[in-house]
Amino acid sequence: MDIDLIRADTPGLAHGAHLLAAGSALMPRPVIDAVVDHTRREAEIGGYEAHAEAAEALDALYPAVARHINAAAQEIAIVENATVAWCHAFYALPIERGARILTCEAEYAANYVAMLHRAERDGLRIEVIPSDAAGALDVAALDAAMGDDVGLIAVTWVPTNGGLVNPAAEVGRIARAHGAPYLLDACQAAGQMRIDVKALGCDFLSATGRKFLRGPRGTGFLYVRDAWLDRLHPAMIDHFGAPWVTRDAYELRPDARRFETWENSYALRAGLKAAMDYADAIGIDAIEARVRGLAGLCREALARDGRIRLRDLGARPSGIVSFSIEGTDPARIVKGMRAAGFTIGASDPESTRLDAERRGLPTLLRMAPHYYNTEDEIAQAAARLRALI
Ligand SMILES: Cc1ncc(COP(=O)(O)O)c(C=O)c1O
Repeated sequence: MDIDLIRADTPGLAHGAHLLAAGSALMPRPVIDAVVDHTRREAEIGGYEAHAEAAEALDALYPAVARHINAAAQEIAIVENATVAWCHAFYALPIERGARILTCEAEYAANYVAMLHRAERDGLRIEVIPSDAAGALDVAALDAAMGDDVGLIAVTWVPTNGGLVNPAAEVGRIARAHGAPYLLDACQAAGQMRIDVKALGCDFLSATGRKFLRGPRGTGFLYVRDAWLDRLHPAMIDHFGAPWVTRDAYELRPDARRFETWENSYALRAGLKAAMDYADAIGIDAIEARVRGLAGLCREALARDGRIRLRDLGARPSGIVSFSIEGTDPARIVKGMRAAGFTIGASDPESTRLDAERRGLPTLLRMAPHYYNTEDEIAQAAARLRALI
């Protein structure tokens, strides 16, 4: 990996050390150019005309996403964020009254409130699978919880804080063995680690563009395993996802694009395509190794200060480093770091309420380096942080 070249390609680094890929990472120049160029073209010749002119290149986004996650192009829908992707699959899935949804303790707020919504509306039960000693979803407990009344397994792979990487592929094996539908939230995994939907054994997977994938904000995608396409009726449709074929009838598209609507931001899609290409050109395994390496350095540097308490879980933590500092206002730290040229973030207990309540977590501070960060930036950020406490 040519870090100098990558950094030269990342204009945002001129504004300081951005250490928050888990929030919204810095876009590389090809992504920025793709968004700006398409927007400019829309201004020059009109939005519909710019789309028509670039239609082939824009359609190449589907096979690009599919390649990146080892899926087929017809299994991909492009939407505006990970939550919309997740909800499309979740709300389309038929689940019988009285059935159970199995989930994990690190589940993300957006997903959990949707589960509560369907639980109330459709008479479902939510069962939270306990964590093992390392803090990850306990695979044996999941296996023991399986039964004919499981309507869905919905798990977050890499939570928004807490450093955890849940055993997503083991969950997939259990789901397959019991024939239970499996919806995997890969929002924080995408662009950080290899996603292979076949190895994961998931039926549906949601992800966002702006985080470790380095795409523009307002982009995301949904994967729907093709065996499910016929059985999933979107909770809402328009005449793109379901063309109006006769006066009294529509026909759902045969592919995952039945979850899309007619109007879209093609500039952002062009940016997402550039981001997929950029990640693939570097290589996802190299990215994962560097992200884990830099996150490990962060943890080491922070652990040297007794006032800083690392809050990460799991045997092999992700690139998201979470910590707290007793008696210190996290907002002040984030602000002070920003003023000194270091971007870090805070994550409140409501974003992962089950985990936060179980562990009695306060608002956590988050540092999430990406491969474009350097060892030196991390050392300096840790020193600055220590000075701010
Ligand atoms: C684990 C997880 N899932 C889902 C989301 C939601 O993603 P989006 O904001 O793109 O809808 C987030 C956002 O931080 C997240 O951390």
